[in-house]
Amino acid sequence: MELTRIGVSLPSDLLEKFDEILGKRGYSSRSEGIRDAIRNYILHYEWMSNIEGERVGVITLLYNHEEHGLSETLTDIQHRFIENINSSIHVHISKDLCLEVILVKGEGKVVKEVTETMMAQKGVEQVKLITVPPERF
Ligand code: NI
Repeated sequence: MELTRIGVSLPSDLLEKFDEILGKRGYSSRSEGIRDAIRNYILHYEWMSNIEGERVGVITLLYNHEEHGLSETLTDIQHRFIENINSSIHVHISKDLCLEVILVKGEGKVVKEVTETMMAQKGVEQVKLITVPPERF
């Protein structure tokens, strides 16, 4: 991999905070930390601006287990999108709350559709979708 050297000016307190986190996370060099931070920034931006093309990701779902028919509906949705859902983990959080973590893959627009379909169900309290393109950059 070809490397390009750049010079960056930063406020000292920002750099101090960054170095502190690098230390805690065990980075061997500042360059390594900056590379990671830039990669994350790009991923975040691409996720925010458009979920298109091939994607792999995770849907995190928090829902009310006592909402009538909701568990069945959420399972039905997963079966309907069987091409895009690899597996899921169900965690019983409390008497009435469930957490479901669903691993997804496929065309970004479809992954978004799966997520939005779940989000639209009554009794679903929180939904988060994180995706990445399945390639190195
Ligand atoms: Ni449960």
